[in-house]
Amino acid sequence: MTSMQSPTGGSDTEYEDRLLQRIGSHSAVVGVVGLGYVGLPLAVEFARAGFRVIGFDVSRRVVEALTAGRSHIQDVPASDVETFVRAGKFSATTDPARIAEMDAVSIAVPTPLVKTRDPDMSYVDKATDTIATHCRPGTLVVLESTTYPGTTRELVQPKFERRGLTVGRDVFLAFSPERVDPGNERYNTRNTPKVVGGITPACKRVAAALYSTCIETVVPVSSPEAAELVKLLENTFRSVNIGLVNEMAIICDRLGVNVWEVIDAAATKPFGFMRFTPGPGIGGHCIPLDPHYLAWKMRTLNYRTRFIDVASEINSQMPDFVVEKVSHALNDVCKSVKGSRIVVIGVAYKKNIDDIRESPALDVIRLLEERGADVVYHDPFIPAFTEDGRTRHGIALSAEELARSDAAVIVTDHTSINYQFVADHASVVVDTRNATAHVTRSRARIVSLSAGA
Ligand SMILES: NC(=O)c1ccc[n+]([C@@H]2O[C@H](COP(=O)([O-])OP(=O)(O)OC[C@H]3O[C@@H](n4cnc5c(N)ncnc54)[C@H](O)[C@@H]3O)[C@@H](O)[C@H]2O)c1
Repeated sequence: MTSMQSPTGGSDTEYEDRLLQRIGSHSAVVGVVGLGYVGLPLAVEFARAGFRVIGFDVSRRVVEALTAGRSHIQDVPASDVETFVRAGKFSATTDPARIAEMDAVSIAVPTPLVKTRDPDMSYVDKATDTIATHCRPGTLVVLESTTYPGTTRELVQPKFERRGLTVGRDVFLAFSPERVDPGNERYNTRNTPKVVGGITPACKRVAAALYSTCIETVVPVSSPEAAELVKLLENTFRSVNIGLVNEMAIICDRLGVNVWEVIDAAATKPFGFMRFTPGPGIGGHCIPLDPHYLAWKMRTLNYRTRFIDVASEINSQMPDFVVEKVSHALNDVCKSVKGSRIVVIGVAYKKNIDDIRESPALDVIRLLEERGADVVYHDPFIPAFTEDGRTRHGIALSAEELARSDAAVIVTDHTSINYQFVADHASVVVDTRNATAHVTRSRARIVSLSAGA
């Protein structure tokens, strides 16, 4: 290969060679932009691998807490943050000028949807503008935020080229989707394989080299578009399969068959079946949102993604289905939703975590209140939360509280909740998660997602 001259007068691979050398010797300074559920665990993993890590976040509150050695992310122990801050291995900043100190930058800023369910790219746009303005030539930039295929090439790459930097030679650009599963005790940032797709082969090489230092398995793919689609396939797969079992719960309800029994028995098949469970709907920052990034992109290409649309429709109707169940259960004991006191058990979007973003519990509470119920909640992970400007405080799950409520609705099946106790003291229980499966006796009338359960 003929070696071309870089703008600095060095060889065409000067920056790549230097970066690979700094990564290999762990002397590279690694930056993480956006220190939330994704960014902070990643920053800690790089620090654990021996790199000096600088976290940049626009939130003063987040930066001040981390600088004081506190962690705002459940899966990251404060002791880790404190140790790395004290050792000078991790610092957090709101000063964009410090991006110039970084040899590599991973971006983990939010990618929500706007009201019309189109992608809100404003965070990625701002963060990449900031990086393109402040980074030095020779920097590796990796987008980790979940997004539509084409983002890295169409939205991010031009920002660096406008500065006169050639991607693949003067700056390296890749996409690597984050797969963090909050609350998962078996799989964490380190032992979850990481997919990497670079704009050029050099981009892929340096990005794969960086992640290989702290992640056990790196899976290179041929382009950023492939890497972007990997994440969307994974989360669309979950959304569609959850939609399917949710519809199966509705089908079983009409047929008077126990959906949990059907799923348990189907799951005994040792091949060709994967267990998914129905519930009150889907929540979190990924499954309800990510497929819409793909649907939006495909709409721009005049293609309608039918599986995504159907799954989204079924999943988003589940809170209504649950509220209908509550209404029928109360009706059976000659009560109405209006005027009833209802305790919602579990408001996090899934068990054993402290995140309520997009949680179906919020819809269940809203729908019950619209029908005139007096709703309180209990969640050991969420002592209080604010939604639509109203702050709610959780209640203790006492025998008195259960006895004075007309119904208890199990929305999230946190492991630490004693479901036998709930069955012993409530009068009506609507169980959307099969959390009462092992209850041996019940004072309460227990209603499941499907009749026959
Ligand atoms: N939470 C998950 O379980 C998960 C899993 C996989 C992928 N993802 C994806 O990762 C991305 C980040 O999600 P998250 O859950 O970590 O979000 P988060 O809200 O927990 O954290 C994002 C952080 O980015 C900061 N930020 C916003 N704009 C910024 C900017 N311009 N510059 C610097 N910092 C900025 C915010 O202050 C916040 O601290 C999203 O695209 C999400 O879809 C999330």
